[in-house]
Amino acid sequence: MVNNNKFPIGIFDSGVGGTSIWKEINTLLPQENTIYLSDSKNAPYGEKSKQDIINLSIKNTEFLLAQNCKIIIVACNTATTNAIKVLRKKYNIPFIGIEPAIKTAALHTKTNKIGILATKGTLNSELFEKTAHTINQKIIRKEIIGKGLVELIEGGKLHSKEMTSLLSTYINPLIEDNVDCLVLGCTHYPYLIPQIRKLVGNKIQIIDSGEAVAKQTKNILEKHKLINSCKEKSFHQFFINKEKNVLEILMTSKDENLKITEKEF
Ligand code: DGL
Repeated sequence: MVNNNKFPIGIFDSGVGGTSIWKEINTLLPQENTIYLSDSKNAPYGEKSKQDIINLSIKNTEFLLAQNCKIIIVACNTATTNAIKVLRKKYNIPFIGIEPAIKTAALHTKTNKIGILATKGTLNSELFEKTAHTINQKIIRKEIIGKGLVELIEGGKLHSKEMTSLLSTYINPLIEDNVDCLVLGCTHYPYLIPQIRKLVGNKIQIIDSGEAVAKQTKNILEKHKLINSCKEKSFHQFFINKEKNVLEILMTSKDENLKITEKEF
């Protein structure tokens, strides 16, 4: 009988940002093999139509299924909020998605003002709208489209002057508005936390969903009896359809079982 438990966890994102989720998953589930797909050629997804995001998510899923993935993590808020419903209907495999953690922010805010930094595709999605209606309606949501941030990260300009000035145009108005919780609604943005922290000091709590996604992945693997209990060292394959240097910089791993490959898909 084939042992499905050894099959990899498949993870995809519009680009390199989903590696922030991969790191949480690898920390919580170090024994799991993984395959990560960075669709950097098509990034950003956030400015695309819902149908385009669905088509790209299907393409990424088919690639991961062809590699025998036992579960798929949609490590992209934009793809989750626009396409996960279609994916779950179309494929008979568990999917884990990621959404901006506005419910957590709603529980923590004291000023009743929360900021949400996310892509246009996420903020305009039906799923986001639906979740936003479930939180206390007294809470004021300051929604900011982080236009340009994903492009700078994908372009290797994480620590550039352009990034600093773009970030301050998005973050400073939130400080002035007395926001006390900032939700990072895009998996690229956790890489910006040190820079955001410099701008907001201790005035604003920064909230992202990475750890919650890793916990949810563990729960679902347990539920489906898919945890890999094999003692062999886990293997991690990363595929990217553009130059791999930005991905290599973000991963900075010396693990010989971690391989990054440029590939057309
Ligand atoms: N990491 C993706 C997300 O979480 C970025 C979306 C984009 O490519 O615009 O939304």
